[in-house]
Amino acid sequence: MASRSTPITVVILAAGLGKRMKSERPKVLAPLCGRPLIAWVLDAAKSLAPEQILLVTGHMKELVAEALEQHGQNWKGVTLVHQAEQLGTGHAVQVCLPQLGSNPGRVVVLYGDMPLLGAGTLQSLLALQERSAASGAAILTACPENARGFGRVLRGRNGGVERIVEEKDCTPAQKEIGEVNTGVYVFDGKALVDALPRLSRNNAQKEYYLTEVVALLAASGLPVAAHETEELDEIIGINNLVHLSEARWALQQRILEQHLLNGVAIEDPATTTIDHGVTIGVGTRILPFTVIRSGVQIGAHCEVGPFTHLRAGSVLADHAEIGNFTECKNARVGKHTKAKHLAYLGDVTLGEHANVGAGTIFANYDGKRKHQSKVGDKAFLGSGTVVVAPNSIGAGATTGAGAVVTRESAIGKSEVWVGVPARRLERKKAGGRTARKAQSKVRSKGRA
Ligand code: UD1
Ligand code: CA
Repeated sequence: MASRSTPITVVILAAGLGKRMKSERPKVLAPLCGRPLIAWVLDAAKSLAPEQILLVTGHMKELVAEALEQHGQNWKGVTLVHQAEQLGTGHAVQVCLPQLGSNPGRVVVLYGDMPLLGAGTLQSLLALQERSAASGAAILTACPENARGFGRVLRGRNGGVERIVEEKDCTPAQKEIGEVNTGVYVFDGKALVDALPRLSRNNAQKEYYLTEVVALLAASGLPVAAHETEELDEIIGINNLVHLSEARWALQQRILEQHLLNGVAIEDPATTTIDHGVTIGVGTRILPFTVIRSGVQIGAHCEVGPFTHLRAGSVLADHAEIGNFTECKNARVGKHTKAKHLAYLGDVTLGEHANVGAGTIFANYDGKRKHQSKVGDKAFLGSGTVVVAPNSIGAGATTGAGAVVTRESAIGKSEVWVGVPARRLERKKAGGRTARKAQSKVRSKGRA
């Protein structure tokens, strides 16, 4: 019998083919707010601080491992278990038997397609299992408005769960049952490993169902308790792209709410996309139709948008302003620097108080490789400047409107460059126009 000190193993089932997603890639890699679906589930699993996590993968398991690696997943305590053939959710847990051993303490089983499941809900289920079904199991149930595709929960006279019937196996009367199996279980490990070898394939899909374990426990007199959750978005299981978009919307709202509570002024959350893993400082304003991808860092008191796209690797220092139709990719933008209109800042480091005129493009790609550029403090790039990378533009330098700065021009400090291809505007000797006048002329033309 389990007790508080009983070790916890979490088994996450992520080997399914996900046929209903109509994708070549494993379902658990479907992108969700900037990370794969499975990363959200792993977070929920880790919130329980379990002794071990067994992640069951099958179809293209290398891709799953690779994607998790890419998204900074910490592998400590996580073991990949291979399910070569996908013979059902029960079979997926059967293949973990060698890792589980004969008495694995408590075993929490999660499906890899439930990204919204919260730590609090999992804790309640663990507490229920410990309190009223320590020798059996506790399952998470819900009564959603639409029971589409879920297994229905059949309860006995005493209120305990007797069995779960998959929708495809339901009689018309059973289909009317409102309480469904969400696919989250806490088992007494011993009871689970005893029942697993007894599963049959006697059902509509000819699969080994994990849900049959519930019926086996109940039939042998072990308690099966149910915790009905009212957090209906937490139980979204992703089987197709409609479900994925519902989950994305729910997760997006959570992310936006967190930023709003942190003091980020998001003017129109309904048209703002902010991925997981974005940091934004207090007092920053995010204007409508802006997309901010995972890993972007934005300082305090910045202004971003409307219609701005901030991609991976972009870092905005305090008071930076990136405006409409400007895309940043791997761009470091210094304090008080502005790029307010129609620009592409790709692979560039901009100093402080610089001004990037409307229509400026950092041409970072030569068809084979990406190259970096650097722009110094207080530099002023006139409207429509094209900077072909690699390149550097010194502090206080100016480019004229429409200048095409060819690669490796290495514009020096305070120099003025104009034309196509851009050439340095020489300072005139006494008697002629001063360089200062020429510079101010270029500036007044180029200012956006
Ligand atoms: C399952 C439940 C159903 C429940 C619903 C909740 C069963 C038999 N049914 O149905 O009662 O209402 O979830 O969302 O368990 N998987 C494997 N290996 C396999 C098969 C599946 O790892 O051989 C994984 C899938 O990757 C997925 C999870 O198990 O993450 C659930 O499988 P899925 O086919 O989505 O089950 P449902 O039909 O949704
Ligand atoms: Ca599912």
